[in-house]
Amino acid sequence: MNSVRVFAPATVANVGSAFDVLGFALDAPGDIVEARISATLGFRGVRIVSITGDGGRLPLDTARNTAGVSAAALLEHLTHRNPKSYGEIGLELTIEKGLPIGSGLGSSSASTVAAVVAANELLGAPLSRMELIPFAMQGEQVACGAAHADNVAPSLLGGFVLIRSYTPLDIIALPAPTKLWVSVISPHLELRTQDARKVLKRTVSMDLAVAQWGNVAALVAGIYRNDVALMGRALEDRIVEPERAQLIPGFFEAKEAALLAGASGCSISGSGPSIFALSDSGEKAQSIGAAMTQVLNKLDLSSTLLISRVNQEGAQVLARA
Ligand code: HSE
Repeated sequence: MNSVRVFAPATVANVGSAFDVLGFALDAPGDIVEARISATLGFRGVRIVSITGDGGRLPLDTARNTAGVSAAALLEHLTHRNPKSYGEIGLELTIEKGLPIGSGLGSSSASTVAAVVAANELLGAPLSRMELIPFAMQGEQVACGAAHADNVAPSLLGGFVLIRSYTPLDIIALPAPTKLWVSVISPHLELRTQDARKVLKRTVSMDLAVAQWGNVAALVAGIYRNDVALMGRALEDRIVEPERAQLIPGFFEAKEAALLAGASGCSISGSGPSIFALSDSGEKAQSIGAAMTQVLNKLDLSSTLLISRVNQEGAQVLARA
């Protein structure tokens, strides 16, 4: 095998109340990465040969590119474990961005996940999807200064994924509720995760913490019960959403419109500015999306609407050659 091409999907991280500990994958859009064994004699390590769809904004330098950092960390780990098999390998990555940067849909994660899955497959799949998560998290550290896993884990595994603990890492794949529909509206604005993390307070009161962990627990219960109404009310986030909403023009109006149009719940997707709403039918998801679009239109904000189910597969190998 000489090359592997992988698609990794967009994700909704946090899912309202579950800041940094829960995320789910969407069907589309996503990023595609092709990993290929380098034909350059004597080249070892990882290099990025091209990036398209980013308007020339992402670095080709492996050490500064999220996908490059993750794939290099993976190759280094494998080389350390088995120098004979992996020590002489050079990998070349081609990145096709399908996701807008800084949109709150896990753009950096999708490239990172596609890169580690493609590299791992190309090298004979020595690691499982679960084992690839820490390498993908290294890309997040480069992208936003925090190695959060609530985008990379669902993009890798599909469905809803819960991060019970970061140290040590304890990741739990949850079932994908079959009744759930998601409407995601992405205003054409860029919000860097790094900046959206800076506005957050470092401490919370006991009252807020109690309200929040009640909602997070109820969200997980809702997922297991396939109960969209329960999931919707458990999105209630009294810690992060109020702080970040100020960074998203029209957020409260769009949320109100979504709820009036029949959404069970609505919150910020990842660190924003995308906004997502949950419902239990495709028809409702369309009307909710239309209602949110109308609000942003009134504010002269162009946006892209996306209607999706929960993606159950996560990253997908598209081709091997
Ligand atoms: N949990 C992360 C945050 C997700 O909210 O900062 C970023 O997409």
